[in-house]
Amino acid sequence: MRVIKTITQLRKELDKARAQGQKIGFVPTMGYFHEGHLSLMRRAKKECDICVVSIYVNPKQFGPKEDLRTYPRDIKRDRAMIRKENVDILFIPSDNVVYPNRYLTYIDVEKISNTLCGKYRPGHFKGVATVVAKLLNMVAPDVMYLGQKDAQQVAVLSKMVADLDFPVNIRVVLTAREKDGLAMSSRNIFLTPQERAQAPVLYRALKYAVGRIQAGERSAPKIISTIRKIITQQSSGRIQYVACVDAGTLEPVGVLKHRVLIALAVFFNRTRLIDNVIVPIKSARKI
Ligand code: PAJ
Repeated sequence: MRVIKTITQLRKELDKARAQGQKIGFVPTMGYFHEGHLSLMRRAKKECDICVVSIYVNPKQFGPKEDLRTYPRDIKRDRAMIRKENVDILFIPSDNVVYPNRYLTYIDVEKISNTLCGKYRPGHFKGVATVVAKLLNMVAPDVMYLGQKDAQQVAVLSKMVADLDFPVNIRVVLTAREKDGLAMSSRNIFLTPQERAQAPVLYRALKYAVGRIQAGERSAPKIISTIRKIITQQSSGRIQYVACVDAGTLEPVGVLKHRVLIALAVFFNRTRLIDNVIVPIKSARKI
């Protein structure tokens, strides 16, 4: 595995690979790896010749009161963790490389950046879209791998890639979970043992909702209130939002139809956890 810190060096390496007709897969990350990150790398390695992983904790996607300063960072641990994954290039740019002096250009994917998490994290998806656009220009991959865990991020980046004609395919990888269902996240280490014991309630509530839908429930408000009730009754989690939206447009739905994304964000003390499921809805049978 080559560890690269500059754009010039990265382009030199990848131009060589491209000249040999090799297919490049790219996994953008903020590091502090867990199995979710590794599953993206494995998929990239399986489908491409070269797997490029970036680690960059992007200051522009953190709000002034968010956890940029305390976001977990440990490059040594990350390097050791991916030693067995056959990653070809680990790209670790510094702040000066990504945002040189007098940086002025931003990407704003309108509307879908401002619902769900975006409503509570103003500017977050502008920061995500901007850094991923830059990383795509640096790496120029054939395929970019993203996790379903961050469903809104997938929607925003897919729209950006389509609207701005980035020549890249996006593949979405299922959410990796702990044995008890908790979605893996770099932030899970901040949970106290009590909070960690309660946190699987999020996926339990989502799964219960899926069961209700499969049994015929089609009312979004009813599904939302069921989920809220389970989380409130079974944990000390403070709900930020629970929403049922169209999986493509992220528009709220009243009556469940087509493909619905049920997404939620819940605080356990100061740790904010998100999770989601996508549910294909069978239309009513014609009589
Ligand atoms: P980060 O949170 O490090 O996540 C990197 C990638 O791993 C994202 O595509 C994310 O959706 C995926 N991922 C995280 N947890 C996962 C899980 N449990 N199962 C499957 N995939 C999972 O997302 C970011 O970084 C940043 O916003 C980034 C895209 C790198 C831009 O800065």
